[in-house]
Amino acid sequence: MSEREPIGVIGVGWVGLCTAACFAELGHEVVARDILPEKVEFLSRGEIPMHEPGLSELVMKNADRLTFTTSMPDVLERTRLLFCCVDTPPTYSGDADLSRVNAVIDELGDSAEHAVVMKSTVPVGTGRAIKRRREDVGYVSNPEFLKEGSALEDFMHPDRVVVGAAETSKAFGDRVAALYESLGGPIVRTDVASAEMIKLASNAFLATKISFINEIANVSEELGADVREVARGMGLDDRIGPKFLNAGVGFGGSCFPKDVSALKQLAGNSGYHFQLLTAVIEVNELQKRRTTSKLQKHLGSLVNKEVALLGVAFKPNTDDVREATSLVLAARLQGEGAHVRVYDPVAADKAREMLGGAQVCDSALEALDGADAAVLVTEWPEFADLDWAGEVKQRMANPLIVDGRNFLDREALRAAGFTYEGIGR
Ligand code: UDX
Repeated sequence: MSEREPIGVIGVGWVGLCTAACFAELGHEVVARDILPEKVEFLSRGEIPMHEPGLSELVMKNADRLTFTTSMPDVLERTRLLFCCVDTPPTYSGDADLSRVNAVIDELGDSAEHAVVMKSTVPVGTGRAIKRRREDVGYVSNPEFLKEGSALEDFMHPDRVVVGAAETSKAFGDRVAALYESLGGPIVRTDVASAEMIKLASNAFLATKISFINEIANVSEELGADVREVARGMGLDDRIGPKFLNAGVGFGGSCFPKDVSALKQLAGNSGYHFQLLTAVIEVNELQKRRTTSKLQKHLGSLVNKEVALLGVAFKPNTDDVREATSLVLAARLQGEGAHVRVYDPVAADKAREMLGGAQVCDSALEALDGADAAVLVTEWPEFADLDWAGEVKQRMANPLIVDGRNFLDREALRAAGFTYEGIGR
């Protein structure tokens, strides 16, 4: 047994598994618990049910220090810090569904030796409410800031680590902070409500930055500016910074859409109308749909037109399709009468049922064969490597491309005879 603090992980989804694997890599014994027996069997055999670069290798490498179990008593016996990583999906009202978090709290008992370390994204005030129910159990808020596709790197090299604890849980807060000390990032010690707000406010701010640049892009299209040049010029201002200024077909994923709505809802529940976030959400919804009119501008009616969507995942290097723009676009285009084919290196199969009858293809070329238009939805590197001027051009019925991420070489495509539509340029 290692001398480092053993770690309990409750809920072995994407966040839970990344957390478990990274703590194991740092030398901790990790006992990870999920309620689904088949998932635990899978993981115990070394099978990883999600696409995250390096995760499979990290789990294998640290198999000796990682135990997967369905048993909560097992976790309670072997560990004291219980990292809660269950999901908190949005309900119809836009509030976060805390039923899984509450189920975990119900199972805990009242031992003062244990602390819940909340990694799940929860509304501000959740920690306080849990403490009311489980007075003796320690509580620490330790939100995750992992990006899909680079989660392990983000864990090991954090911009910051946030540790929120009340005075009564200070000793547990110290133990949680100590776990991250060797990683070198700044550790922000604060109260629980502020830690909960830091997570929601960070995601809401980044989403605002994206909707802002998307609106600048839309206006740039009207006024003849190039949003990439605009973003470059803006980003050099230290106060603005260059990141998250890539205009595109809107943000998706498991965090931004959900967290922005949750914060808006949370404000609303307390009587405050968060107007800015209302606009951020609406801009994003409209942005997801703008491609339709770009196609109509060149093709006229889309009835019976063949449209190839390149990319289904909400961003590259993940198979996550939650809130992905591809799903909205596939539905909108089919609504306009188009035949839609989609291709994604890893995510298309998973999305098959959500694509409303779109044809799922095995390769980009298959999707592009005979197409009247191509729409690049996700900037997978392999799409830049296609032989656009040669094979793609020959196969397409009409060389029209909407580059939804300003990812391809516009000049080369135009020189090869393509009609090119980017975003904001
Ligand atoms: C995000 C946060 O970055 C992370 O800190 C948090 O813990 C979870 O949510 P993730 O959902 O993995 O991570 O995706 P991210 O890389 O942040 O991108 C989110 C969406 O915004 C994607 O759809 C992406 O395509 C889009 N985006 C991002 C843009 O449209 N433009 C940009 O400049 C950046």
